[in-house]
Amino acid sequence: MKAIRRNYGWVIVTLLASLPLIIVANMVEMNFTNGFSIDFVEVDGVSSLGMLYHVTGEFAIRWMTAVLTCTPFFILFGVNNLFVRQAMGIATAVWSLLHFIIFIWAEGLAETFTQVNYIAGFIAVLILIPLLMTSNRKSMNWLKSTWKKLQSFAYLAVFLSLLHVALLDKTWMIYAIVVGLGFLLRIPIIKNKIIAWRTKTR
Ligand code: HEM
Repeated sequence: MKAIRRNYGWVIVTLLASLPLIIVANMVEMNFTNGFSIDFVEVDGVSSLGMLYHVTGEFAIRWMTAVLTCTPFFILFGVNNLFVRQAMGIATAVWSLLHFIIFIWAEGLAETFTQVNYIAGFIAVLILIPLLMTSNRKSMNWLKSTWKKLQSFAYLAVFLSLLHVALLDKTWMIYAIVVGLGFLLRIPIIKNKIIAWRTKTR
């Protein structure tokens, strides 16, 4: 109980990130006759595939945006929690991978390389894998200054993901604004002013 109370941020993120998986699981049907296959359930004659792209893609981009707001949140409020950030990072990677797996399942891997927007998403997924594996204190201590350089690839991943969504003509502006404002706060002169003001008023 004590551990849960101490890590409540981590628990909240984990619950928020995993509960929608139940909805996703209800949209597919596992079939074990004649080997193993996954069928996309039809609701009112419409396949759930489009909905699956929507749900998994939206959660992927939302968690990605959330991770990138951790540093701006620290600049503004002085609160930083590695476990929460790590849980958000895992949520981003898991939802992105799920999104990609559904795509491969429905369209096939080769289809990924047929459109610029898919290729952008694919490179973002490739970037997320090492980021996922090194988002912990052990890797931080092991990689030292290289860790920061590696993590900065998250900016490229978010750029490529936004490009992917913008080219698909889906909602991307709100995420770009949140991430963009976060970058503004990181500019050293702005960041230092905010931190100085925050510590003075404490
Ligand atoms: C190989 C990688 C990827 C592939 C093949 C892929 C493919 C797709 C497809 C087929 C759609 C549906 C398009 C439509 O309804 O017209 C979609 C939508 C979307 N994808 Fe991806 N995607 C990839 C990676 C990503 C990544 C890394 C993110 C974000 C982190 C992402 C976020 C989204 C979002 C937000 C949508 C729009 C969902 C909606 O509002 O309907 N995708 N993607």
